[in-house]
Amino acid sequence: MSKPKKLVVGNWKLHGSKAANAQLLSGVLAAGPYAADVGVCAPFPYLADLQAQLASSAVTWGAQDVSAHEQGAYTGEVNAAMLAEFGCRWAIVGHSERRAYHAESDQLVADKAKAALAKGVTPIVCVGETLEQREAGHTEEVVKRQLSAVIHTLGACIAEIVVAYEPVWAIGTGKTATPEQAQAVHALLRAQLAAATPKASTIRLLYGGSVKPDNAATLFAQADIDGGLIGGASLKAADFAAICRAAG
Ligand code: PGA
Repeated sequence: MSKPKKLVVGNWKLHGSKAANAQLLSGVLAAGPYAADVGVCAPFPYLADLQAQLASSAVTWGAQDVSAHEQGAYTGEVNAAMLAEFGCRWAIVGHSERRAYHAESDQLVADKAKAALAKGVTPIVCVGETLEQREAGHTEEVVKRQLSAVIHTLGACIAEIVVAYEPVWAIGTGKTATPEQAQAVHALLRAQLAAATPKASTIRLLYGGSVKPDNAATLFAQADIDGGLIGGASLKAADFAAICRAAG
């Protein structure tokens, strides 16, 4: 099976305003088109703006979270059907910031991935170890446990997701995993997926954690790295565009 097309997704986190987003997106669009698939994940209130501004471009957009529930008394939550109604392409689930600050469990993350897929929104499932876990030699065990909940919950649909390996110690710290460190974990994840689906080679495995224009190309050149999930650098049009081009 041929290798999947590279994918670069910006994760804006809790940043932006209507004016700043419009300016950022026009910079990203002006620097395109890109050979890789490109997406941006914005805070919920801006999704309608993204839908409008990106409608005639190849740049896709998504949310940074999605509810595991279909509907009901869940104040503050946004479900996958609502996202799908706008044409939302992606939903990041299980980002380490949500696991840490909102106590999201492996099973909740898996349920969110399932809820997204059920409405045609592709979940970008994040996994990754903390510095403490890496130093204790538990990286493999942690990422496998996180991915295993998703594999178990999705069954054959696992082939439809995107996985992002984001070592927690590399997020927003300027400390990037070396290409070798990242590739080693991606290879483990690929093997785990291969045990679950014959389509494992088509699943895009993104690396995230301090990806910048000057380290993106080497990371993306690794055998099992199919693109990136970009935080800080996705807020600057020139940097994000350079990273997208590095994946091309
Ligand atoms: P960073 O964030 O690129 O700012 O390290 C990546 C992420 O959290 O998705």
